[in-house]
Amino acid sequence: MCGIVGYIGHQKAVPVLLEGLQRLEYRGYDSAGVAILQDGKIRVEKTVGKLEALKETLEGKDLDTYVGIGHTRWATHGAPSTANAHPHMDCTGKFVIVHNGIIENYLALREELQHLGHEFKSETDTEILAHLIEQYDDGDLESTVKKALKRVDGSFALGVLDREEPNRLIAVRKDSPLVIGIGQGENFIASDIPAILKYTKKAYILNDYEMAIVTKDHVEIKTLDGEQIENKEVFEVKWDAAAAEKGGYEHFMLKEIHEQPKAIKDTLSGRLDLDNGQVVLDEVKLPVEQIKNIKKVFITACGTAYHAGLMGKYMIEDLVRVPVEVDIASEFRYRNPIIDNETLIIVVSQSGETADTLAAMREAKQKGARVVAVTNVVGSSVAREADDVIYTWAGPEIAVASTKAYTTQLIAMYLLSLYFAQVRETLSKQEIKGYLEALNQLPEQAEAALKQDEDILQLVKAYAKSENAFFLGRSLDAAVAMEGALKLKEISYIHAEAYAAGELKHGTLALITEGIPVITLATQQDVYDKTISNIKEVTARGADVIAVAFDTDTQIQKSVNHVLTIPLTEKYFTPVLSVIPLQMLAYYMAIERGCDVDKPRNLAKSVTVE
Ligand code: AGP
Repeated sequence: MCGIVGYIGHQKAVPVLLEGLQRLEYRGYDSAGVAILQDGKIRVEKTVGKLEALKETLEGKDLDTYVGIGHTRWATHGAPSTANAHPHMDCTGKFVIVHNGIIENYLALREELQHLGHEFKSETDTEILAHLIEQYDDGDLESTVKKALKRVDGSFALGVLDREEPNRLIAVRKDSPLVIGIGQGENFIASDIPAILKYTKKAYILNDYEMAIVTKDHVEIKTLDGEQIENKEVFEVKWDAAAAEKGGYEHFMLKEIHEQPKAIKDTLSGRLDLDNGQVVLDEVKLPVEQIKNIKKVFITACGTAYHAGLMGKYMIEDLVRVPVEVDIASEFRYRNPIIDNETLIIVVSQSGETADTLAAMREAKQKGARVVAVTNVVGSSVAREADDVIYTWAGPEIAVASTKAYTTQLIAMYLLSLYFAQVRETLSKQEIKGYLEALNQLPEQAEAALKQDEDILQLVKAYAKSENAFFLGRSLDAAVAMEGALKLKEISYIHAEAYAAGELKHGTLALITEGIPVITLATQQDVYDKTISNIKEVTARGADVIAVAFDTDTQIQKSVNHVLTIPLTEKYFTPVLSVIPLQMLAYYMAIERGCDVDKPRNLAKSVTVE
């Protein structure tokens, strides 16, 4: 996620801006920049790479100024480059902005502004905001920004400076976080608390559609409709800097588990045309004719990304009727797969740098396949080398154990499957519309699935001393069982096995002993009765069964020891919700067992070696 800072006060602005950006480094970024107001002019300095590069550029320059904005960019639209780095200016150099979020209608706005004569210097969605403000300039920064933002669809945390109004800066928030730090004779804007902690522990947390008009001595807050907000609550920061980087959560993993509703919403944003019942995947340049001619799909990835790929198989085969094989990348490249120019390869990789996945992709390309990548990092090796890329806009994932990356990878698989079904007309518009409406519910449903800490903490008390656990499921639930087992293994070090429930009686049932915890997913209605039989198989041999089921299921409680529930959704989309209690179970188990949750032993966040 991008980081925004802004300052107006009695100190020199640049050191304050750099300190703030330093505190936001944990958000991940690939470029950085600052804009200052000096002698009636806006001056912008920006560089690719880490803050060190920006500091070197600023070294020795006359930066005598008391107001400025700064930014660290996590690329979404437009690869990492100096031109794409923020801050961005309008044509005349009167306005300068920094932005965190996604402007969904930026292409249409860019075209309109170009027709009006605006010239763009970057390929970002953000830059259109600077030109839009210029277009609506009525001589008052506050009303100008309000008018411009009425044209914008999407999410934004925005900082704006006007060279003709050097005594104030404007901050506006919709869907992307933004706080206003309250100082003595100075005030701050920032994406997150850590950036202001050195100077103040008092802040306003902006709500959606709120605008702050910030001078060095005063902060005025209004809604974008112009309503004055009196007596806004002042947030007193109780955290230290380390805790603040985690947004007050104890670990990055817990923060990222709770970021999933927003990550899912961001990954869906701009890609669902609910009115017309269409998936919008403009970034996939794969020609329609080629999509119609695909005879075979391979999905290849590692670890959690591989588990996400498994969902693609179910959905593409069932709805698009094209054969799909899902391969672990380190195996795929050595089995001489049968590939030709009617084969599509989908590679899934959060980091976009996993050596095995990269090697598998290169092998497939050499054999003539077309490659679509699903990745979370703009400009990563996978993104650069694939023919098409679908980004999961989850923001940087810091914890080694992948959580929000997995659920947003699922979203990407769903979108791609439905897009293929749309192009090959294997689903009607009505059917696609139904799926899109269900997808649109997921962020809110994920929020609901997060609300069961108490139940999970009870389970942790009961089973934290177990050294073994089983995860069972059938159909899509079997793939989620694999992800649940991996989560538990990699952070709590409990040995966990995932099994297709129907397979248990072919050997592994021998391992079921008294009191062993067996987590069973029971969401797939077409195999529900069989799953209940498998539950009875293991309880008859002394196992304790913890089921994950829909909150509408009134039967499951009769057959198991504990139930964790999720809201009812479309069969294919249940993994996005059913994985959440499993992530939380793994997290709290690891805490109880005194494990290093964010950095588990022996593991790296991105495995860039084979
Ligand atoms: C999952 O929690 C692990 N962090 C690991 O399995 C990871 O998913 C795997 O290494 C693949 O990484 P990638 O998505 O960056 O390619």
